Parts: sequence; C-alpha cells; structure tokens
Amino acid sequence: MEIYEIVFSATGRTQKVVDIISSVFSGEKNKIDLSNYNTKDKNYELSKDCFCVVAVPVYGGRVPKPAVERLQNIKGNGASALLVAVYGNRAIDDCLLELKNILTQQGFKCRAAISAVAEHSMMPQYGANRPDKQDEDELKDFAKKVMEGLENNTLTESIDVPGKFPYVKASSMPLKIEVNNNCIKCGKCARRCPVGAISLEEPNTTDTKKCITCMRCIEECPQKARSLPPKLMSVVSFSMKSKFKGRKENKLYI
Ligand SMILES: Cc1cc2nc3c(=O)[nH]c(=O)nc-3n(C[C@H](O)[C@H](O)[C@H](O)COP(=O)(O)O)c2cc1C
Repeated sequence: MEIYEIVFSATGRTQKVVDIISSVFSGEKNKIDLSNYNTKDKNYELSKDCFCVVAVPVYGGRVPKPAVERLQNIKGNGASALLVAVYGNRAIDDCLLELKNILTQQGFKCRAAISAVAEHSMMPQYGANRPDKQDEDELKDFAKKVMEGLENNTLTESIDVPGKFPYVKASSMPLKIEVNNNCIKCGKCARRCPVGAISLEEPNTTDTKKCITCMRCIEECPQKARSLPPKLMSVVSFSMKSKFKGRKENKLYI
C-alpha cells in the first residue's frame, strides 16, 4: 500500500499533528504539499492501493479555500483517506464535512476522520503548547485503530462526521497584515506565500484580495517585519475568549 500525506499547513501546526499520526504508519510517505503555491497547477492521479492522510487546518469553521481548490486537482480513483482537521481550541464547525464531501467527489473512500487541537496560529494563547504529550498518546492510539481497521478491512467506505450543509459562512475578519521598516525586501515571504499574495518586487506590501491571513509570512519573516495590528488582535481575541475556554478534546471518527 502506498502512503500519501496530503497536507495544507501554513505555519506547521497541522503538519506537526500529521507527523504524530504518520509515525504509526511504517514505510515511505509520498507528500503533496497543498500550501505550496506551485501545487495549484499540478494534477495527481491516485489509485485504490493508496492510503492518504489528508489534513487541513480549520479556518473559520471551513477548509481553507486554496486547499479546496488544490484538492480538486487530485483524483482519488478509490484511494482510502483518513481525514484530519486541526483547530485552535475553538471548534471545527463544518470543516470535516466539507473535507469529506470534496474528497468523496474526487473519488476517495473516506474511511476515518480525526479532529485534533493545536496552538492557534493567530492567537497562540489558545490551544497553547498543543499537541502535548497527552495529545501525542491519543493521536497515536487513534492512528493504530485506523491501521488495524485498514489491515482487517473493517473500515467503512463513508465515515459519518459532524457538520451540516449549507456550511457555516466563512468569516472574513477585516485583518490586514502590516509591514514595518525592518523589511529588507529579501523576498522570503513572497516565495513562501501559499496564495501568491506578495510580489517579489514589492515584498513590503500584501495583496489583501488574495491574502488569507494564514500567518506564514509573519512567522517566517527573518526580520520580524510583518504583523497583524496588535490592538485589533487583542480586541478580537478578548471578544472571542468564551469560545476558546477549557481544554477541547481530540476526536476519532471510525
Ligand atoms: C485564518 C484562520 C482561521 C482560523 N479559524 C479557526 C476556527 O474556526 N476554529 C479554530 O478552532 N481554530 C481556527 N484557527 C486556528 C487554526 O486552525 C490552527 O491554529 C491550526 O493549527 C493552524 O494550522 P497550520 O499551522 O498548519 O497553518 C484559524 C487560524 C487562522 C489562521
């Protein structure tokens, strides 16, 4: 069986969860990086002998738009999929259902699903230090159950996941990334942006129509020149505080 990791991870938190889950599946892993801008022009054909861990972060209760578009260039041809939604301790809303519907349409068999908590990439005080040791143990345990199900051929072809259609409307927070004078125009942000929202000629600007505020440019800028407006961020995070309270659980759907 060929193993694939098909992952959108702007700031590495989703990938961290995938690394934990994948550590249980032995053998070489083929990787399709949905957060690489160049992936948008690539097409893939898989087969029923493939097992795919398909993982996305939850954005406003949904699958990130560029991940939706890039998944539509992958044909499953009966490949088995383990769906993974990684979220920042608020909620996954309709993300897993949307992911399942896209993959089913693309010819995958959605055999199991996981929702897992990781540090919030925009408000890191929420879900701080997760996944931790307890998460790691749980996620490995989930992955082992999925592996056993695959080996014994006991997994369903179409897993039930939470969520409802029509999906929650993806919120568009009026957040604009600011660039300060520390910017040396090295262009790293432009080369790494998942949606091509930063030009190499003017890396101190951002195309707000394309930007999905995924936080990658902010986290990876070597000069710490990029940020979200701090005052607005503290208002947003304070106003949403109650939605993030308590330790949210990882869940396995099998
Ligand atoms: C634009 C945006 C929207 C988000 N929306 C949600 C959400 O609706 N619910 C939630 O619990 N976390 C939300 N988060 C947190 C991310 O799902 C979480 O931090 C995830 O681990 C980020 O993955 P990454 O590091 O692979 O990009 C959001 C983060 C961003 C950047």
